[in-house]
Amino acid sequence: MARLVGGMGTSHVPSIGVALDKGLRDTPEWKPFFDGYVPAQEWVKEHKPDVAVVVFNDHYNAMFLDRVPTFGVGCAEEYQIVDEGWGPRAIPSFTGHSAFSWHLVDSLVENHFDPEIIQEIKVDHGLQVPLELFWGKPEQEWPVKVVPIFVNVLQYPIPLPARLYDLGKQLGRAIESYDSDEKFVVLGTGGLSHQLQGARAGFTNPPADRQFLIDIAQNPDKLAGWSREQYVETFGGEGAELIMWLVMRGALSPDVVARFSHYFVPASMTGAGMIVLENA
Ligand code: DHB
Ligand code: FE
Repeated sequence: MARLVGGMGTSHVPSIGVALDKGLRDTPEWKPFFDGYVPAQEWVKEHKPDVAVVVFNDHYNAMFLDRVPTFGVGCAEEYQIVDEGWGPRAIPSFTGHSAFSWHLVDSLVENHFDPEIIQEIKVDHGLQVPLELFWGKPEQEWPVKVVPIFVNVLQYPIPLPARLYDLGKQLGRAIESYDSDEKFVVLGTGGLSHQLQGARAGFTNPPADRQFLIDIAQNPDKLAGWSREQYVETFGGEGAELIMWLVMRGALSPDVVARFSHYFVPASMTGAGMIVLENA
């Protein structure tokens, strides 16, 4: 059976991809941020996952307000790079794993989750940036297959944190019941605190971000029990996308070990965090 070798959480701020495109990785502004990911990149090289299930949100790049699935599972063999306004970035498209995607969709529906089944879609910074941070930017092709799980975190009503945690538990069971010897990781993306618009534009909350990086490992039930309003108040309007990390955490066992974590503020206007978890 397939094996879940780890859960990873990271911010997916678009300017991180832009910094890489512009060769700014080692500038004084960015180096401390990127250096924090080096241990996680080494962990990836050591464990060589075959498949990354990436929980993220599209930011009105591939979908808009005319259709807002609460959850969607990518079932395609390929995901191209979407144009976010400046032309698609010059990075390879992502290879999917439709056989596992259909197994996942089957097992979700059988367990009372009913996602949109997405057979053709392009992906934005929400998926691109985490892959670049953990695997590095490839010349030719990505060394891992991706299975995107799209979550609506933009148009209210967004799903309950507890629902995402439960979705993660079902995702973990689907991985462990998949007949293959592939190694899987689950990525939770987004956050940490940021608010890009409205009266609190520019808001960040570093103490709450640092506590989140502890609690996502040690107290996930607490975070799953928070209301959506608590997420918005604590992490900002867009920082509430942090609820997607609960899918990653739910896929792991109740006891985990945090191998690495990293926090840097501000990346663009965002508290940027990373964690790598393994089942204890
Ligand atoms: C920004 C966008 C994001 O999707 C995010 O998660 C954080 C920051 C931004 O545009 O700065
Ligand atoms: Fe985002």
